[in-house]
Amino acid sequence: MNSSAFSELGRRTIDPPISWLMKTALERPELISLAAGFTDDLSLPVRETRTLLNQILSSAKTAQKTLQYGATAGDAVLRRLTVERLIEQDVGALERGLYSADNLLITHGSQQLLYLITECLCDPGDIVLVEDPTYFVYLSIIQSRGLRGRGLTLARDGIDLEHLESVLESLKREGELKRVKMLYLVTYFQNPSGVTTSLAKKAAALKLLRRYEKDAGHPIYLVEDAAYRDLRFAGGDVPSALAVSGHQDRVIYAGTYSKPFATGIRVGYGWMPSPVYEVAVRVKGNHDFGTSNLLQQVLVQALSSGLYHKHLAILQRRYQKKARVMTQALRENFPGAVEWQEPGGGLYVWARLPQKHKSGRKSGLFRDALKMDVLYVPGELCYADDPTRLPPNREMRLSFGNASEANIREGIARLGKVLRALGI
Ligand SMILES: Cc1ncc(COP(=O)(O)O)c(C=O)c1O
Repeated sequence: MNSSAFSELGRRTIDPPISWLMKTALERPELISLAAGFTDDLSLPVRETRTLLNQILSSAKTAQKTLQYGATAGDAVLRRLTVERLIEQDVGALERGLYSADNLLITHGSQQLLYLITECLCDPGDIVLVEDPTYFVYLSIIQSRGLRGRGLTLARDGIDLEHLESVLESLKREGELKRVKMLYLVTYFQNPSGVTTSLAKKAAALKLLRRYEKDAGHPIYLVEDAAYRDLRFAGGDVPSALAVSGHQDRVIYAGTYSKPFATGIRVGYGWMPSPVYEVAVRVKGNHDFGTSNLLQQVLVQALSSGLYHKHLAILQRRYQKKARVMTQALRENFPGAVEWQEPGGGLYVWARLPQKHKSGRKSGLFRDALKMDVLYVPGELCYADDPTRLPPNREMRLSFGNASEANIREGIARLGKVLRALGI
């Protein structure tokens, strides 16, 4: 046969690294996985969710409605409550009217929102600007959809703006600006590096993108992925890019209830300017014509009863504790030459080996760590396939989300032994 039953996308899509990492962890139950982006099992709100479900299904007002299809854009009350939370979080820096629930779309996890937005804005061959490193599952979307990623150097407070400008300039010179559709930033306790982007950087990036729009011939959107915003356990909150005055028409804000409540509930959301919103709702109509009503109702009840906030406070303390366990173990077991930062939120510590040492899937470190039954995410997976630079291969993403405190201690101690045995 000389033609394929599969679409170009079907033929192009490679097995995402996330599948391989999950498979490895599942096949080897003895493995201490510091790789998974899973959340903490012990603090999942099992009892609370059972009570909420009972309430929802016992009330004549909600029972049938909940087990029926809902609207494509999502439940009206959940959309309103979500926008009210955004207003609460961005307080002091916003123009209230701009946060209308009319522009808020509820999705099946923020992952669906990211996919949907990319699908709505980008054609194969288009360019997405991303942080170096970035959320590796988003890189799989780029790969699958035939897009090109361009990596931007990441500093302590977000992307290097000079680098952003020089990338935009070189794309302009190459006549490629029209292919640039969006800048994707994970702005709070970034996965994988832990970096939080300052408001000043968000504002400057928006200004810069707008300067290049004339040459691009279309808007260039900033997609702000705020997946870890609620999982903050140190320092103050930073307003979102939506709070940057005069640029809300270029911001797409992706949030989630999954990490800060229950990952199994998989409800996320996105706020976006009207032209993008209208297209995204149409396309979501083709995906699934609406996120599960039952799961949305759980969140409506959790948010309106105050349970969500109560649970979040518990989670924040839990992750603070687990982060401390990991950083204490790192101090005790890792050679001083390995660099890492104290996390202020999120689920990860990003550790960097000295020059010349490697952490990738083919490295001695990764192989020996697996022999010692420890799995981490090799940093190389978090870099876009960008032909203009060599991706670094000496970092490890270490998650304190899912592993127990004892396993965090043990996993880091074993990794420390492997590092020392390799002469680091
Ligand atoms: C940066 C980032 N964005 C988005 C997501 C998607 O999460 P969810 O679909 O559960 O909202 C994740 C999950 O790990 C993530 O790390």
